[in-house]
Amino acid sequence: MKAIIPAAGLGTRFLPATKCSAKELLPVLDKPVIQYVVEEALEPEGVDGVVIVNSHEKPEIEKYFSVDEDFEQMLRSKGKDALADAVHTASSLPVSFVYQDEPLGLGHAVHCAAEAVGDEPFFILLGDYFVPDRKMCVNMAEVSRAHGGASVIAVAPVPADQVSRYGIIAGECVGALEGSDATGEQEGTVWKVTGLVEKPAPEEAPSHLFIVGRYLLSPAIMDLLATQGAGAGGEIQLTDSMERLLESEEMYALVVDPSEGCDTGTPAAWAATNARLALASDTYRAAFLEELGDAAKGLVG
Ligand code: G1P
Repeated sequence: MKAIIPAAGLGTRFLPATKCSAKELLPVLDKPVIQYVVEEALEPEGVDGVVIVNSHEKPEIEKYFSVDEDFEQMLRSKGKDALADAVHTASSLPVSFVYQDEPLGLGHAVHCAAEAVGDEPFFILLGDYFVPDRKMCVNMAEVSRAHGGASVIAVAPVPADQVSRYGIIAGECVGALEGSDATGEQEGTVWKVTGLVEKPAPEEAPSHLFIVGRYLLSPAIMDLLATQGAGAGGEIQLTDSMERLLESEEMYALVVDPSEGCDTGTPAAWAATNARLALASDTYRAAFLEELGDAAKGLVG
């Protein structure tokens, strides 16, 4: 079973930094953003590979995940074995690449990986966000197992004035994760999805549960994506094919707390994620606070 990470975007929110280097390789502390997402993708049982949908403009992503024995050897010859091990770990991850050279939308990007995922269910993890404890996809797999292998997406409540930025579901609460007594829109509840709409106007939104960017989908979505016309924003939208999938298959949504994950989609969110993980890190916390000096006052209680 594979996980897809779409990574062909231009990274315009980070210009000029992303003029000649991929936003996916921006570091959070000492690791590129995309490595956190790859490691999260490999956490659920049964996921044995990650397919990155890249653009040929960003060959440095593939280079990052490739073995470079000479470089590792150079580090070891200088006694830097821990760094050589870290470099080696990244290049040992089971990552493969497919290419999307036209920015036609998320649905198109996912379809570029159709052959690579084959006839199995697969995860999609949007790469501007990662979950440090890596449990979100694991819980989604549990919901899927409880519902006969159905597709499952992660959703969360969003204020009404923000629904037009996201995919929004229609549905009804049908239960909760095992061991959870959550109800309604609380974290841990499971909804049966009855409709989906991409970036609706507030008055047209069927609920205010938005798609968070974690999907576990039936392979049947790939045939639908192959014929999907352009939708919101003139792009081929994954959400539109998911809506069509509902005609033939069940789909469920797990309500999650998005703040369990770290956003790296904008410079401010990326900076906050670095600060948050630095404060939580045994390796970096003390040095981070020292470097901040007086600016640290107010950041920690
Ligand atoms: C995409 C999806 C949308 C989802 C969002 C989550 O939108 O199309 O359904 O809610 O990611 O971040 P985008 O952010 O690419 O506009």
